[in-house]
Amino acid sequence: MSKNSAVRVLVIIASTRPGRLGRTVGEWFTRINHHVAVDCAAEIAIADLGQIGLPLLDEPEHPSSGNYHHEHTRAWSRLVADADAFVIVTPEYNHGMPAALKNAMDYLHEEWAYKPVSFVGYGNTSAGTRGVHMAKQVATTLRMMPTGATVALRIGDHVSDGLLLDDPSRDAAAHNTLRELVRLARVLRPLYRPDGEADAEAGPQPPLPGVTLRPGDAADAAELVVLQRCCWVPEAIANEDWDLPALHETGDDVRAWAESWKVWCAHLDGRLVGAVRARLDGDAWDIGRLMVAPDLAGRGLGTWLLRFAEEQAPAEVRSFRLHTGARSHRNLALYERSGYRRGAAHDGVVTLTKPVLATAAR
Ligand SMILES: Cc1cc2nc3c(=O)[nH]c(=O)nc-3n(C[C@H](O)[C@H](O)[C@H](O)COP(=O)(O)O)c2cc1C
Repeated sequence: MSKNSAVRVLVIIASTRPGRLGRTVGEWFTRINHHVAVDCAAEIAIADLGQIGLPLLDEPEHPSSGNYHHEHTRAWSRLVADADAFVIVTPEYNHGMPAALKNAMDYLHEEWAYKPVSFVGYGNTSAGTRGVHMAKQVATTLRMMPTGATVALRIGDHVSDGLLLDDPSRDAAAHNTLRELVRLARVLRPLYRPDGEADAEAGPQPPLPGVTLRPGDAADAAELVVLQRCCWVPEAIANEDWDLPALHETGDDVRAWAESWKVWCAHLDGRLVGAVRARLDGDAWDIGRLMVAPDLAGRGLGTWLLRFAEEQAPAEVRSFRLHTGARSHRNLALYERSGYRRGAAHDGVVTLTKPVLATAAR
């Protein structure tokens, strides 16, 4: 993100019951902050758990795997991953948070981490504060960063006939809450997007200090052969398929495909630590051979290389396309976090696509 790009704030409406007050409170917070959002370059969107309709957690794997089996989870993951900060609008039920909110938080893991969160609580006697405290405990476990500023709304003082009464001091609290949230989101950005987000002028920064990226050439072929064998052994094991071309190619094979693909190589201290290739196919930009040295996996290099490859697409490209093994769960999770959607698997291979418009940097 360049310093001036918008902070995406997701207002999560936690209550789901018919006739709830939550929607009114969430819409008030969004409306009253319209000018503050413009001033501090934020974009506010509402995620209404009552409309999203997540079932009770039905994923077989722990959310930290990022390996989601259901489309409703992937859609929720995309929404939360895309946000830079959250405002949770929650009532107090029996001195706690609503079950729907706990459920929605439990569904995901990395998507929440290191992002700031503010609370707008409401209720009867305690103005929702006990519900908010319970939600904060869960939020900090997920490594979210609660702001000090909150809004606490006592229904008896603020609501009449299901509508919010005017209250300038409550509006001021909402403004402060959004301002603090956005300030924190900007500062925390390197923590929750360590791979960096494209800056229209400077391009994405490498996630590891000292990593350089340049077009590959024939002199890289030998190292590419070694790196891709290292990287495709786990793929072969996961997919029970030892016939993968990347495992068997020679230096000559790599030199041959490099004639029809663009290839970029990432180096650290003179060593090849990552690579990616891409080429035009109709109006699709095919991206492949995305590889990262196993000892540097999980440090954001793969996401960074993928984003770089997307940014090299010619103007006529309408979609990005990737292929991976149907059981390559780590790759699938990375691609889905990057906005790709999977198609059906054929012969153990999944094709994933992403429309070009979904990429803010282009
Ligand atoms: C199941 C349930 C439990 C509640 N428990 C509390 C409570 O412990 N403390 C409180 O101040 N209000 C409590 N209330 C009142 C709610 O805060 C109030 O009804 C509020 O409008 C609920 O939010 P919603 O309309 O968005 O669902 C409870 C309401 C419900 C439905």
